[in-house]
This record gives sequence, C-alpha cells and structure tokens, in this order.
Amino acid sequence: MSRLLLVYAGQPGGRIHRMVNALQRIISDSGEPITLVVRPALQATAADLLDASGLLLATPEHFGYMAGALKDFFDRTFYPVEGKTTGLPYALLVSAGTDGTGTCRAVERIARGYGWREIAAPLIVVGDITDEALSQVAELGVTLAAGLAAGIF
Ligand SMILES: Cc1cc2nc3c(=O)[nH]c(=O)nc-3n(C[C@H](O)[C@H](O)[C@H](O)COP(=O)(O)O)c2cc1C
Repeated sequence: MSRLLLVYAGQPGGRIHRMVNALQRIISDSGEPITLVVRPALQATAADLLDASGLLLATPEHFGYMAGALKDFFDRTFYPVEGKTTGLPYALLVSAGTDGTGTCRAVERIARGYGWREIAAPLIVVGDITDEALSQVAELGVTLAAGLAAGIF
C-alpha cells in the first residue's frame, strides 16, 4: 500500500498542528487505501523518507524561512537518502502571518536538490485558518492521497 509521509513543524497547538490534525481526519475519512505516516520534523528520519511513496511537508514561516525543525530534517536526511528518493511526489503547506513566499522558495530549492517532484503549487495559509483555507488544505491532502492510491504520481 502507498505510504504518504507527513512531516510537520510548528508550535504545539499552533496553526500547522491544527491543520495536520484536520488532514489526518480528512485523509482517513476519504477512504483512500493509503497509509498515512505523520511525523514531527524533529523525529522524522531518513528511513521514513525511504519508505515513503509521497510526501507532504508542513511548516510555519519563521523569519522569511521554514521553521528550524524542518530545516533540521533536511540537514539530517539529505546525504543518507541522496539519489534514493528521486521523483518522490511532494506538496508543501505553509502557515504564515503575512507572507510565506520565502519559505516556499527555500523548500522548493531544497526539494529540487533531492530530486523530488512537486505535484501541486505550495499552499500558503496566511493568518487564521478560515473555512476556505481548511477546504484548500483538505483538497491538497485528498489530491495527494487519491493520486498515490491511483498510482497517478
Ligand atoms: C519566530 C517567528 C517568526 C515569524 N516570522 C514570520 C515571517 O517571517 N513571515 C510571516 O509571514 N510570518 C512569520 N511568523 C508568523 C507565523 O508564521 C504564523 O504565526 C504561523 O501561523 C505560525 O504557525 P504555527 O502556529 O503552526 O507555529 C513568525 C512567527 C514566529 C513565532
């Protein structure tokens, strides 16, 4: 069965955590036959990446960049998986106070270094999680899950 790895950073109980909780519910309710593996970025490992058929990265923007925890995940896993995750389909969710674009640029550049394939434009949720934002988050999660289950990606 396809495995979707969700690696997330952010303050405990914060916006990313709330969206990750929603994603878990939405993907489970979607009934798509995939295994969702959810890891806080500081606990995610190279083995998690090697086992993944798809990847969803979720981070707040901090100082115009991704959260340090997500950067740490990249720092720890890049060489151990180098050349072994080429073509991995991924998507990015950013929570930001006002912007989010610096985080997208930085993550996309690093993802290109891994050779990953971006399957949707990054989703930036600015400010509070509105119903509209939540439906965009749901669409992103279900798109990834359904695409992996169908072997589209
Ligand atoms: C240390 C720190 C730096 C931040 N820097 C930015 C920033 O550069 N740009 C921005 O749009 N928001 C910035 N923010 C706001 C957060 O991105 C925003 O509140 C986000 O929703 C927090 O996600 P979380 O609740 O999951 O931690 C910053 C927040 C913190 C705590």
